[in-house]
Order: sequence, then C-alpha cells, then structure tokens
Amino acid sequence: MKILLTGGAGFIGSHLTKELLEQGHAVICLDNLDTYYDPKIKRQNIRQFSADPNYLFIEGDIRDRTLLDALFRLYGCDTVVHLAARAGVRPSVENPALYFDVNVNGTLSILEAMRQAGVRRMVMASSSSVYGDAERVPFTESDACDRPLSPYAASKRSAELLAHTYHHLYGFDISCLRFFTVYGPGQRPEMAISQFTERVLNGLPITLFGDGTTARDYTYIDDITHGILKAIDHLNGYAVLNIGGSDPISLRDLVSLIEKATGETALIDWQPMQPGDVERTYADVSLARKQIGYMPSVRIDEGILKFVNWYKLKHELVTA
Ligand SMILES: NC(=O)c1ccc[n+]([C@@H]2O[C@H](COP(=O)([O-])OP(=O)(O)OC[C@H]3O[C@@H](n4cnc5c(N)ncnc54)[C@H](O)[C@@H]3O)[C@@H](O)[C@H]2O)c1
Repeated sequence: MKILLTGGAGFIGSHLTKELLEQGHAVICLDNLDTYYDPKIKRQNIRQFSADPNYLFIEGDIRDRTLLDALFRLYGCDTVVHLAARAGVRPSVENPALYFDVNVNGTLSILEAMRQAGVRRMVMASSSSVYGDAERVPFTESDACDRPLSPYAASKRSAELLAHTYHHLYGFDISCLRFFTVYGPGQRPEMAISQFTERVLNGLPITLFGDGTTARDYTYIDDITHGILKAIDHLNGYAVLNIGGSDPISLRDLVSLIEKATGETALIDWQPMQPGDVERTYADVSLARKQIGYMPSVRIDEGILKFVNWYKLKHELVTA
C-alpha cells in the first residue's frame, strides 16, 4: 500500500511509520513540525527513516489545500492515516480557535483533497476525551459523546462527525480510532508519564491535580500501532472504535509504579483539578476486538518499566 500519513513525525506517527515500512508499505509523511513541543524531537523521530526508499517526508500543513492536491497528484496513495492534530486538553482551553482550525478545518481539508483525488480510505485519530465525564464505565462507542469538556475534545468529536458525512455522501471507508492516553518510548514530553519520570529521576517535585483518585486508561504505544494496522486492514464503511488498554489505574497508583520503576520517591505538589480534565477514562474494547481483532497486550506495570528504561538510556546517551 502507499499511505499518506499526516502527523507522521510525532510520537504515534513515528512508531507507526516504523511498522508500516517493516511491512513493506510506502509512506509519505506530511507534518509541519509544529511548535507544540520541540520540533527537534520530531526531526529526531524521523531521522531513522531518511535513507529508506519507501519513505518520503514533506514538511507542510494539512490546511494547505494546494499542497495536498499536489501531493495526491504527484505521488498518489491509496490510504490516508490522519494523525496530525493539535493534541493536549489543557492548552486547548487557552487557545480554542487554533485547536478547531487544525483539528476540524485541517481534517476537512484532507477529506476534500481525498474526494478530489478519488482516494476513499482513511484511518484517523480520535480521542477518549470525546466521552467527557460519562458516568457509565467502561466507555462504549454507542455512548452519546455530546458533552465534551474541552475544545480539544469538541474538535475531535467534530472531526469524527465530518468523517461520517464523507462516508455518507461519497462512500469513504473511514475508521475513527479513539485512543486512550498513549505512552511508551518517545511519548510527548509534556504528557504526565514523561513529566513525572523526568522530574522523579531528577529529584524535582511533581504536580498532581485533584486528590489522586482520578483514573486513566493508559495504552502502550505498541498496542496503539497494532490497532492502527488492524484498522487499515479492515477498513469497511464507517466505524468508530476504542483503542485502549482497558485497565485503568488511579493517578496515585501510576505515581507508585513510576517510583518502583525508577527506584526513587516522588515529591508531590497537590493542586486542584484543572478545567477540562475528566475524572476517569476506561475503554470497552470489545467492538474493536470483534471488528478488527484488536487486543491490548502490554500491562501498565510492564509498560512503565519499559518507558523508564528507555528514558534512562536516552538520558545517558544524551549526556554522554
Ligand atoms: N498521545 C495520546 O495520548 C493521544 C490520545 C488520544 C488521541 N491522540 C491523537 O493521536 C494523534 C497523534 O498524537 P501524538 O501523541 O503522536 O501527538 P504529536 O503532537 O506527537 O503528533 C502530532 C503531529 O502532527 C503534526 N501537526 C500538527 N499540526 C499540523 C498541521 N497543521 N499540519 C501538519 N502536521 C501537523 C505535529 O507536528 C506532530 O508531529 C493526534 O491526532 C492526537 O490528537 C493522541
């Protein structure tokens, strides 16, 4: 397959690229290396692919229709994996217009360019945040998802709805994958596990919001890439699927796992809950199991250990 991968220089995208190339697919990566976090990390993420004849990197913006049209015309592709987005719940509260522009107008721009080019297969990244503070757990795809708590969540839900429109009007095969907090080597540096590990290893206090009982369903990066690959193979009509670990743990227990994996004790600065944050996330993955054969396989304690070991190795390499 020839795949246009948007956001391919990011955390999830670069892991996925590795898998796609290993499976013999050609990957055209479109990424604008935005400054949400240090673009040097993104350049580093994709450096490993630069010599691969099946890989092409284009630095550009998904909102640039002229560029998209040229990409489809010049390189062609049969499938789009759309991961490019402004991620992050809390910063979206500060800058909602930017989140809507990238995540909604950007998605529309890709869908329109696909329509024009006659490409009708897409897997796109959605998010567990669309569930808001749903009372019933685990979260299932048939939940209403009409009470998003942040502009980020609203933008991701809007993109799912647009995807349905293109399925309905033009017969696109589209799967929207609701990822549940993703972690593992290369995790975005502003995310909790990255931050906590860095600070605990350096003897610095970590800030915990709430009372430590909020819970998250963390998903190891290999389970996410496995879910995306399965979704590509099973594209058929319109689907919304949870891709999660399906085994939530509380914030306090997460910190304990990081303490155990690092061998250090965390210094904790307790702060009130932040606007936009949800109490808990918990994926019911039975639909994904049934439709695409997805099954998470990495337990959180194993995954945290792998992450901490990766972090230590990287740190030693960087300071050597
Ligand atoms: N990491 C998670 O826990 C998580 C959870 C749920 C959903 N998601 C979604 O998964 C996708 C990938 O997330 P990630 O953690 O790898 O984030 P990331 O920020 O590492 O990757 C996103 C990439 O998109 C690129 N990008 C941003 N705006 C762009 C634009 N206008 N044009 C082209 N490229 C652009 C960025 O430069 C970045 O490389 C996102 O859609 C995110 O919303 C992630």
